[in-house]
Amino acid sequence: MSDGNDSRRNSMELIGTRAGTAMPIEMRQALHLKGLVPSSIENFSKQELRAYQQLMSKSTSLEKYEFLASLRSLNVNLFFRLVLNHFKDIAPIIYTPTVGEACLNYSHIYPFLYPFKTSIGLFITLSDTENMDMVIDNYRQLMADPIDPEITVITDGSRILGLGDLGVNGMGIPVGKLQLYVAAAGLNPGRTLPIVLDFGTNSEQYLNDPLYLGTRERRPDDNTFYEATERVLQALHRAFPGLLVQFEDFSTSHAFGLLDKWRQKMLCFNDDIQGTGCVILGGFISAVKQAGIPAKDQRILFFGAGSAGVGVARQLVDYFVVDHKMPRDKAGALFWFVDSRGLITANRGDVLTKQKTRFARHDNGDVQCGTLEDALEYVKPTALIGLSTVHSAFSEKILRRMNEINAQSRPIIFPLSNPETKAECTFEEAMRCTDNRVLFASGTAFTEYTIPGTDDIRIPGQGNNMYVFPAIGLGAVLCKPDWITDTMFYAVAKALANSRNEEEKAGDELYPRIERIREVSAQLAAAFITQAVREGLVKEAHWRDIVSANMPCTQDDDTTGSSVDGQFSKRVLGEVKTLMWKPAASVEQYIVESITNPNVDEM
Ligand code: NAI
Repeated sequence: MSDGNDSRRNSMELIGTRAGTAMPIEMRQALHLKGLVPSSIENFSKQELRAYQQLMSKSTSLEKYEFLASLRSLNVNLFFRLVLNHFKDIAPIIYTPTVGEACLNYSHIYPFLYPFKTSIGLFITLSDTENMDMVIDNYRQLMADPIDPEITVITDGSRILGLGDLGVNGMGIPVGKLQLYVAAAGLNPGRTLPIVLDFGTNSEQYLNDPLYLGTRERRPDDNTFYEATERVLQALHRAFPGLLVQFEDFSTSHAFGLLDKWRQKMLCFNDDIQGTGCVILGGFISAVKQAGIPAKDQRILFFGAGSAGVGVARQLVDYFVVDHKMPRDKAGALFWFVDSRGLITANRGDVLTKQKTRFARHDNGDVQCGTLEDALEYVKPTALIGLSTVHSAFSEKILRRMNEINAQSRPIIFPLSNPETKAECTFEEAMRCTDNRVLFASGTAFTEYTIPGTDDIRIPGQGNNMYVFPAIGLGAVLCKPDWITDTMFYAVAKALANSRNEEEKAGDELYPRIERIREVSAQLAAAFITQAVREGLVKEAHWRDIVSANMPCTQDDDTTGSSVDGQFSKRVLGEVKTLMWKPAASVEQYIVESITNPNVDEM
């Protein structure tokens, strides 16, 4: 039997334990800890220093990941303090690339210390989908206070980061991604809900792994998949009507199928499909502005015409249509594609897939180009975009030729294939072969480059979705539009290009520095909310009022007057910033916040 005093004492013990060496003297006395803990009373900075030293002492990335996972389960505040203050170092551990390694090993490194009465998220089997209300009830019982989650990242583990079908092991992705939503954009950690649909796996390796933690069955057919997923989504929607659903790492056809089915029925988006196009568009807009020739004179050659290549190209076409008022067919004519059979033309003699047909050239006469080199000579591109998975495809010869072709302007070169072993070229190669004139963005993170004989250090741009998905999540959670339109993504891409400061522009950086991610996320979320209100899809009077009552601030040198401009007012930005969660700065603040928002530490 417990009475009120017991539960007060229990919660004080819990808060005290998490405050750790920062526990104030009065709390130590009340909990009778004198003589049982070290006497030093520290502040959070000192704890962070110790945690960082411990993190750095781990010799492998996976060990660092495990250390951080256990730290998070013990002390959310310290974990996020550490992540925020060392974002550039830690983001690649809690997310790509290390999270991929963690997922591959997930069943072997679980549990990452999840103490009793804490939850990592939901593991939903096919049969659970028949009892979703019970699953949601269990989740609610576990939480210290029934505060609804406001964002979920949901995967079925079928296509994890290009590593293939990892089944339930894919849970590491929603967990890691939601940590980035919190760190990069200030979503409340206690209101994030990772979900894995444990519907089986087609991976023999996992089906035969004695430690595999998921359902040991092959994946169901499409009908069963869509019906079961519908039961999950409807139950979530019933229980938490304003919940933002981010679909993650589903197999390509299911990813498109789910998005098509749900995007206008509930608040949801797919980062692989929509976030990627958005972040590349942001970098491309920055590059076109700096290239030194009018946008309409760009000639863009894509190497690789798979789902990523065609998806990205479609977003870039929108840029010429929306910002430069070009008719869609004229904008489309600025694009050429090379796939494994050469330049994609309508008359090259093979049957093209529907997605390739859209970009097939009809103006090539008898000319066919079998290789990238031939296509380069034929197209004379101003921009070369690689989404081919072919390592080193942008050879020295090709890079040097891009430099010659664009002698009067700046060559745009985006080797976007991931991981590094598939990248079409490195930053160093691109800089060296273009006399340091390249406007560069890659899919993978390359190291900085010092221009030989100078102290001039150049930072490569990375088209990392991390720039946009946390901000889209924040914007959507705050203003809750009826649904998320393409133009909202477009506004975010514009705001991303606008968010570079003078130093970044002067250094030819196409993206803001990752250390500024919180500030950038606030700007992008403000642009999202402004666009959502302009489109009439926001019901909350609060946001409608502050968007309409304040003129957008001009933070862009773009004078095209386009309708989707990615702008926002200082008032909206200020409001967004005040609503972003951040870790408590002091133990006193932590104690007050733990009492008012007990859920933060439960996830
Ligand atoms: P995919 O396999 O669907 O497409 C690859 C394309 O490259 C196909 O058109 C294929 O014909 C072409 N290709 C392959 N070998 C070739 C060769 N030897 N010569 C000429 N063309 C060749 O792959 P998907 O899904 O389109 O992804 C491509 C790459 O893009 C991946 O490495 C992926 O990691 C990367 N990616 C990067 C993103 C980013 O930077 N944020 C986002 C999404 C994808």
